[in-house]
Amino acid sequence: MDTFSSTEVRLIEALQPIRAFVVAAAIHHVFESGIYDALTKGEQDEGELFKRLELEPARASALLQFMRNEGYLGGANGRVHMLDKMRGLAEFRGWYTMLIGGYGQTFLELGDKLKVGSGSASRRADLVGIGSCAISHYDAIPLTRRLMSQIPGGVKRVLDLGCGNALYLVEFCKLFPEIQAWGVEPDRKGYEAAVALVEREHLQSRIQLTCSGAVEFFRTPLSFSPDLTVLGFVLHEILGQEGEAGVVGFLKQLTERFPDIHLVVIEVDQKMDEPRAMRHGLSLAYYNPYYLFHPFTRQRLETRAFWLKLFQEAGLAVVAEDTVTPDVDSTGLEIGFLLRRADRVARHG
Ligand SMILES: C[S@@+](CC[C@H](N)C(=O)[O-])C[C@H]1O[C@@H](n2cnc3c(N)ncnc32)[C@H](O)[C@@H]1O
Repeated sequence: MDTFSSTEVRLIEALQPIRAFVVAAAIHHVFESGIYDALTKGEQDEGELFKRLELEPARASALLQFMRNEGYLGGANGRVHMLDKMRGLAEFRGWYTMLIGGYGQTFLELGDKLKVGSGSASRRADLVGIGSCAISHYDAIPLTRRLMSQIPGGVKRVLDLGCGNALYLVEFCKLFPEIQAWGVEPDRKGYEAAVALVEREHLQSRIQLTCSGAVEFFRTPLSFSPDLTVLGFVLHEILGQEGEAGVVGFLKQLTERFPDIHLVVIEVDQKMDEPRAMRHGLSLAYYNPYYLFHPFTRQRLETRAFWLKLFQEAGLAVVAEDTVTPDVDSTGLEIGFLLRRADRVARHG
């Protein structure tokens, strides 16, 4: 843009980030309010739709009109229907749930939380867990399955620590009829979402759920003896809460209690300051905002080298390592480890 452009042309360009900010929020609310699900059934009468979803008509019709103007919805004269631009976002709903629903407020609080001693920014932990699981459906769950397939003798009892809405366990139970599972989630609303999903899928006889943090969970007696524990994007939460010694102590406690257990750990490699990694389209669209909110919310992302050293300190050996398939994510930033007590690997191979 040259300096002779009119003020209006420059103003329009300058406002595009604000427009994108509001569009992202509106997309999330079309999903969360139930409007999206209703529109999948076809064109709707606005009045009936608002009544059914208990929406304030003046506000809801402003949201619909905003989305019409942006080309996501169509219809006029009190009727509304979905356009392809909205329909095409459905498979990426989880990214909106996590980044906007879970961390939208966090991004607005960044300025308040920059000062020394200003405490943590807020987040909606339930939507973080639910959104993360929906994203994991595409990346971390298939990655976990590939790592699991390398466990000799297979898996019968899975413990998912920080399970969000328990989507991992539901998917595993559907795939492997012999699996029994236990999910642990500290956020009350996240736990309630897990209970609801497990009931909806009629899997109550196979999936038990506990509302607890991972560390506290191991302080209580356990009637379940897992052969696999999954920690999907949870160790960096515990690292932020308990520090390095806390994570090492937790992993040691886990593997002392269950010496033959395998662990699947999924993390994001901390490469925020590496230009080669950050130039990638998905790095700018997803990982750049993802890296940003962690230090504001008591979470500590770390490098692959850091985790390898920490696993060694905890007496664990890496049995296998993998990343997401490039058709979903070719950055290589998401890393998965299959771990086991080092003395057991040496003994059993
Ligand atoms: C990013 S989400 C990951 C959800 C899911 N495991 C996945 O892979 O998509 C992190 C989850 O860890 C939970 N969490 C936070 N602190 C935890 C702790 N100390 N112990 C267990 N879970 C924790 C959060 O409530 C949230 O559901």
